[in-house]
Formats: sequence, C-alpha cells, structure tokens
Amino acid sequence: MTGIKKYIIGNWKSNNGIEATNNWLKEFADVSDLKILQSLNGWEIIICPPFISLMNVYEYIQKTGLPIKIGAQDISPYGDGAYTGEVSTGMLKGITDYVLIGHSERRKYFHEDDKMLALKCQKALENDIIPVYCVPDENTIFPDGVNIVAYEPIWAIGTGKSETPENADKIAFKIKTKRPGINVIYGGSVNADNIKSMISEENIDGVLPGKSSLEPAAFWEMILNASSN
Ligand code: PGA
Repeated sequence: MTGIKKYIIGNWKSNNGIEATNNWLKEFADVSDLKILQSLNGWEIIICPPFISLMNVYEYIQKTGLPIKIGAQDISPYGDGAYTGEVSTGMLKGITDYVLIGHSERRKYFHEDDKMLALKCQKALENDIIPVYCVPDENTIFPDGVNIVAYEPIWAIGTGKSETPENADKIAFKIKTKRPGINVIYGGSVNADNIKSMISEENIDGVLPGKSSLEPAAFWEMILNASSN
C-alpha cells in the first residue's frame, strides 16, 4: 500500500522543551549518518515531540532534509473554536504526518475514553494525519479508518521489562485477524538491545520506544540495529 514496511516511532512524552529539542537535533546530527538514513528503504522513522517543540523539529527537517517524519502526541477531538487549551488537527495539518491516539497515559491520567478517542481519530483522518492508535491488549477496540495499531501492554511501559517478541507477535496476529491489512507495532521498554528481535517477528511492523528515544545516540543505535540485516 504505502511501501513502508516498518516503523520506528519515538515518543518523547512530556520531555524536551525547545532548548532540549534543539540539543537533541544537534546531537542526533552528530551521532547519526544522513546517508544511511536516506537509504533506509521501507522504514519510516518518526519522532513525536511535545507541541511546544513541534515547529523546531519541523523547521529543522525543512532546512536539513533529515528524512524523519513528525508525529504529534495528542490532538483535540474538536475542530477550531472555543476549546481553551486544545490544539486542533487543522493546526497540525502540513506539520505532522502522524498522531498518537489512545496512549495508556492519556487514558489513565486524562480519562480519555473510547468515544473521545474515536472522535480524535475521525479528526485526524479528516485532516490527512495518520493515527497511530494505542491499545493495551488485543481486546481493546480501535475505530474504523485506523491502519496502525500500537500494542502497548501497560506493565511494560517505562518499566524496563518488555513483552517477549513471541508474545508480542501472538497479540499482533490476533489484532490483525480483526482487520486484515492493518499494521501492528509494539511499544513498551523497547531499546537498542531488544529492537531487532522484536521487529524480526512476522506480525510486528515496527516499534514505539519512549524512554530510549530521548537519547539521540540510543535512538540512532535502535535505527541501526533494527535496519541491519
Ligand atoms: P517506554 O514507553 O519505551 O518508555 O516503555 C513506550 C510508550 O509509552 O510509548
């Protein structure tokens, strides 16, 4: 469909303000190899900065041609208008290609339910932003139009204990049987050591690392380890 085979999506969460983001970009440029990045056929490398830093990353990518896409970590379920504090999908259009929706931290700390998450997906799709829909297990529903589901077991997030590749593959397979053709990625304590075995599984189409995407060198190491044959 898209020619993309695997995704690596770095979720910075509530980290990296403007200065830290500029430092991250500088450091990533130092440790990474642009030529290798440009030749990663079939890989989509995405970072999800906080809203405040989105434009820094966007402008940096425009200027340098860094082949990395941008994802938002959240979006408003509404359009433009009287919704104090919200960032609408229309505002993000043209800046971010992806958006994380339904992350367990949003469900837990901000009480986002299936109905709200479906509205967010709808808004994203209307504005040509691709939702990456996070689910904690194979039984959680995901809205129509979602093409990328991130399986993220809650116990594995930020704990340093990742799901085994075999189990992650089994869950990904179950999710795929619900909607053939869908991509399933895995998130939860992914790092440079376990990324290769995770993405080598038949039904795992990528990964969503949080903590280990904050370190430019670790993020680059993950990209290298994942993409090497
Ligand atoms: P983690 O976070 O890699 O720090 O476990 C992943 C996530 O929450 O998306």
